[in-house]
Amino acid sequence: MKFEVSHDPASAHATDLLVLLTPESVIKEGSEETADLLSALQDDPFAIAAQEGFKGKPGQHCILRTPHGIKARRLLLMGVGDGSTAQARLGAQRAGRLVKKTRAVSVSLMLPGADEATLTAITQGFALGAYEFLRYVTPKEDDDYDGVRQVTLLTPDDGGLGAVITAQALTEGINLARDLVNEPPQALTPDAMSTRAQAIASTHDLTCTIFDENDLEIKGFNLIMAVGKGSINPPRLIHLVYTPKDEVIHKVAFVGKGVTFDTGGNNIKTGGYMLNMHSDMAGGAAVLGAAESIGRLKPAGVEVHFIVPTAENSVSGRAMRPNDIYRGYGKKTVEIGNTDAEGRLILADALAYAQEQGVDTIVDLATLTGACVVALGEHTSAMFSDSDALVEQLSAATEESGEDFWRMPLNKKLDSQLDTPHADMKNIGKRYGGAITAALFLKRWVKIERWAHLDIAGPAFMEGPDDSLAAGGTGFGVSTLVALAQRLGS
Ligand code: BES
Ligand code: ZN
Ligand code: ZN
Repeated sequence: MKFEVSHDPASAHATDLLVLLTPESVIKEGSEETADLLSALQDDPFAIAAQEGFKGKPGQHCILRTPHGIKARRLLLMGVGDGSTAQARLGAQRAGRLVKKTRAVSVSLMLPGADEATLTAITQGFALGAYEFLRYVTPKEDDDYDGVRQVTLLTPDDGGLGAVITAQALTEGINLARDLVNEPPQALTPDAMSTRAQAIASTHDLTCTIFDENDLEIKGFNLIMAVGKGSINPPRLIHLVYTPKDEVIHKVAFVGKGVTFDTGGNNIKTGGYMLNMHSDMAGGAAVLGAAESIGRLKPAGVEVHFIVPTAENSVSGRAMRPNDIYRGYGKKTVEIGNTDAEGRLILADALAYAQEQGVDTIVDLATLTGACVVALGEHTSAMFSDSDALVEQLSAATEESGEDFWRMPLNKKLDSQLDTPHADMKNIGKRYGGAITAALFLKRWVKIERWAHLDIAGPAFMEGPDDSLAAGGTGFGVSTLVALAQRLGS
């Protein structure tokens, strides 16, 4: 998909589909920017839409198939309610979901009165809405429609170029993360994930280190090795680094859980709980997606380490078992209480490794616990951190990204649940507060103050589609990480 800006008058702009994101206020009061479009049209689209009850409310929409007088082949009015950035983003996503119906190859977007941040949000939103993962779907013989190729942001004056550049970089990163999550687990093994990481690094000039199973064994990444032991697909540790040209203000590490399939291991997942566990590498995918976006945007002032421990949690005679004891890369020992609590094991090794990189800030992302989904639902990610300063910076980043996070407590009272007489700790606590004990387990491997853990088990994956996003990986986390990196460097 190519992204562009155009300053054409809307009526003279040639495109397959002109999307007019329409706040309720524009229906009530009109706007200068729509005046040109309306005067050129022989039919008043608002009047036609009004006959269908269109008032610009969020999600309401109306497609005009052959608008007379303007150059666009189709006109889509999409309601965006109060016209806020969040509603505009959502409206653009909905337009993206609808676009297939119109078979448009070129699409142009317009929102009266939008500021730069909103322009970024609508361009990005549209591309995210239009995304589908069709790699393994055999195309119908009589269907030659291949999706949208060109997205143009229509702005009245000379603004919008920065918005389009940012939107393109974010979209590429987010959709890369979605592609990785949507790949079936037999294709996206830890080694395949490493190959994708290498490709990102070489395209954007990032340094790239991959530890294979021999390196991991020699260096003592025994927890990553333990999780990967049961699989024929051996584990890896991926490490990319972005270094800015100028001075460095902050050094940050993004660490993502990369479990390419979680069977639960010997504590095997029962019932339907194993289904979709190819998405258990969504944290790692978000980190690689952020590497793609940051590699394109090249923000000043911030060095970024992208670290992904990746392993397949399988069942076999070689798999780790409950009561096994391993010494992690951070030198402490862990008794396995449950082989299904594997994410925290690979993250423990990766967090210990991240701290050797001289970073001042660490953010990890993981589809870590079902308990987190029980607590917050499917659309909200948990944010754990004892650093109020980092939480504030992350919250500002989430304001920009529009991603939904909720701070949860690293409640010390639950920490003793991780004690065991036979090792320095075990990898599970009691059932209640499961997302918190998982976070407390990670905290035992972190010495620096500025650390945050994001449990993205809910929003990383959609079991079914909705009116704004296709089913499958969502790329959740990418845009928050990118926004955080940009903030830390400025
Ligand atoms: N990958 C799962 C967590 C998960 C569950 C992610 C549902 C997405 C949707 C994780 O490895 C896991 O199995 N966690 C266990 C922990 C338990 C054994 C302490 C869980 O949540 O049940
Ligand atoms: Zn698990
Ligand atoms: Zn898992």
